[in-house]
Amino acid sequence: MFMPKTSNSLVEILRQRRQRLASLIDFPAILWSGSSNPRNFPANVFPFRASSHFLYFAGLPLPNAAIRLEAGKLELFMDDPQPSSALWHGEMPKREEIAQMIGADAAKPMSELEFLVAEAATIAVQDAATWTQQSQLLNRWVLPQNPPQGIDLELAKAVVALRLTHDAGALAELRQAAAVSVEAHKAGMSATLVAKREAEVRGAMEGVIIAQNMTTAYNSIVTVHGEVLHNEHYHHPLQPGDLLLADVGAETETGWAADITRTWPVSGKFSSTQRDIYDVVLAAHDACIAKIRPGVEYGEIHLLAATVIAEGLVNLGILQGNAEDLVQRDAHALFFPHGIGHLLGLDVHDMEDLGDLAGYEEGRKRSDRFGLGYLRLNRPLRPGMLVTIEPGFYQVPAILNDGQNRSTYQYTVNWERLSQFADVRGIRIEDDVLVTDEGSEVLTAALPNDANAVEELIG
Ligand code: GLY
Ligand code: MN
Ligand code: MN
Repeated sequence: MFMPKTSNSLVEILRQRRQRLASLIDFPAILWSGSSNPRNFPANVFPFRASSHFLYFAGLPLPNAAIRLEAGKLELFMDDPQPSSALWHGEMPKREEIAQMIGADAAKPMSELEFLVAEAATIAVQDAATWTQQSQLLNRWVLPQNPPQGIDLELAKAVVALRLTHDAGALAELRQAAAVSVEAHKAGMSATLVAKREAEVRGAMEGVIIAQNMTTAYNSIVTVHGEVLHNEHYHHPLQPGDLLLADVGAETETGWAADITRTWPVSGKFSSTQRDIYDVVLAAHDACIAKIRPGVEYGEIHLLAATVIAEGLVNLGILQGNAEDLVQRDAHALFFPHGIGHLLGLDVHDMEDLGDLAGYEEGRKRSDRFGLGYLRLNRPLRPGMLVTIEPGFYQVPAILNDGQNRSTYQYTVNWERLSQFADVRGIRIEDDVLVTDEGSEVLTAALPNDANAVEELIG
């Protein structure tokens, strides 16, 4: 069991979080941390990641544990390690010591949890062993894929209300994740000229994160095929004319995430076509960040990105028409098919285990429009929210070769002109933006995104 250091300030932050929860619900909540899944035998496991809702209130990534929260009090449930485990895993802190580290009011073995489940709400944990245990103890189905109901829904809404905006403890962690991710990207850029395959650049980037005793917050994307949005293969050779898209973010020891994307030329110099499109994406990125302040609708920011991209593509002769009309007709989505970003916190795509409960303001539903359906956040912005801004341009064969799209947009896209941009398969520029009282702060601003500055970093 890995045990990051705790401090008096963490204990106080955790106390404040449960007090705030107590002001929102009047029933007990039990949050499980989860367990790691075995690979080929029980003791050889996939890396453990505690449930984020557990981490938010317990502060430490304790496997096979649960906390019961009621009226501002925290009870910790976990079993002390078997005596034999010291041989393989070393001496571990005992339940009582851990309880003290996180400021728990009581510490009990797991077996006692079953006597304290009455009227308790919970949130499903992703691993099957844990949600099965949750379902058995609470005597109802608690399934990660089912939307929560009853008191579980009330608990989920209360947790969303707390986790939507970040307290000082969270922000300190998020800043660390951002800073390490910035260094990882710089290392990736400077490794590129001598690297022969994507995997080498990934290694250079993740090495920085691992050296800080952090992990990646999601599977890294380091690819010359940026048009595959969540490409998780790293075997392609790096060719001089390629763009390399790297979407890599660190996660701190207590689970707080960063999420950064940069796209750079393998040769160290953008071609003129690559640079033209890069500057369109960057213009959208900058316009969106300039607009972020409390009260602004995130959906409006998405539409702004769509409009700037449409306008840029009209100026390059790729799209034909007026930018607003093109966005109305979803023509931008041929090249920018995803949303402008999402919430960021203990998870990348924070709280998406709860479906759209966190991302969408109550009463709002996802659009079924091609250009809006992948919008993950649709709320007015508030101080303390952390969001990503990640516009992109992609030539996705499945979209551009689709017969229906070819006929709908036959005269909207100048297909011949588009063919001159064949060396631009995928560009994304992604930063992490904190909404402040006055406007915004880019937590990842130390990583340049201007094309000249990126070229300099490469070499
Ligand atoms: N890293 C995943 C995303 O940007 O949404
Ligand atoms: Mn993102
Ligand atoms: Mn990303």
